[in-house]
Amino acid sequence: MKGIVLAGGGGSRLHPLTLATSKQLLPVYDKPMIYYPLSVLMQAGITEILVISTPEALPAMRSLLGDGSRLGISLSYAEQPEPRGIADAFLVGEDFIAGDPVALILGDNIFHGPFLPSALAEARNNEKGCTLFGYRVPDPERFAVAERDADGRLVSLVEKPEHPESDIAVTGLYFYDADVVDTAKRIRPSARGELEVTDVNRIYLEEKEVDLIVLGRGCSWLDAGTTESLNEAIQYVRALESKQRLHISCLEEIALEQGWITAEQCYELGSRMRNSEYGKYVMSVSGLAGQSI
Ligand code: G1P
Repeated sequence: MKGIVLAGGGGSRLHPLTLATSKQLLPVYDKPMIYYPLSVLMQAGITEILVISTPEALPAMRSLLGDGSRLGISLSYAEQPEPRGIADAFLVGEDFIAGDPVALILGDNIFHGPFLPSALAEARNNEKGCTLFGYRVPDPERFAVAERDADGRLVSLVEKPEHPESDIAVTGLYFYDADVVDTAKRIRPSARGELEVTDVNRIYLEEKEVDLIVLGRGCSWLDAGTTESLNEAIQYVRALESKQRLHISCLEEIALEQGWITAEQCYELGSRMRNSEYGKYVMSVSGLAGQSI
């Protein structure tokens, strides 16, 4: 399975923060925003990942993340010159996807919690159609909204409805079978001129099966796309990391847990950032801190 992080867009809801830098490079407490969605794909066990961003932001993304080899993964990059919508990621990424199943995550979506790994494993093992993740929110009209019938089956998906039928927002993490590129080619731009991922999902709902995993207790979902939600995300991460003395979405730790890098490599990656708390944490999770290597 391949993975895509969509980190494009002008970030206009965060202006002036994003006038000269990309939203997905802004700090969310102790690390750049893009670490969070990337960590989700890595936790799902995905090692071939495409980062899609604007031509202006790509050089900085590349210098931040490189080719992924230091984390034991393969990262490649593609340009999305105009914000043409989320589903455009499947057209930009067609050659990269190359007929495989693919998971897509939006670059400003943060997922965290002890039940996340099992939800990701369920989505990865689901071979029918697509898997979406729902999350109950007080303001569903800001998102795509999922409606379920009395048996819990998904019956409708509506993008930013004026009058939402439920409080279940469809989050920005999607797992698809290999037909997603062909499906994305069938949709047309919406009234706001974008290829809507919700239109792709609706075709899956009509023609195939869509699994909706509603993340509940034990999972948090935050989108950091507005000033308010970005600051909420920063406070959330800060509260967790200072209380629990662990760092969430730590790419080096995940790579080590997945067996993609050795303890020595992990220690080395941490020691390059040894002046920061994050760097010290990476050294400590290697298990080698304090030993002479
Ligand atoms: C996008 C999607 C929407 C989804 C949301 C999740 O909205 O269009 O379906 O619920 O991401 O973050 P946008 O952030 O483009 O408003």
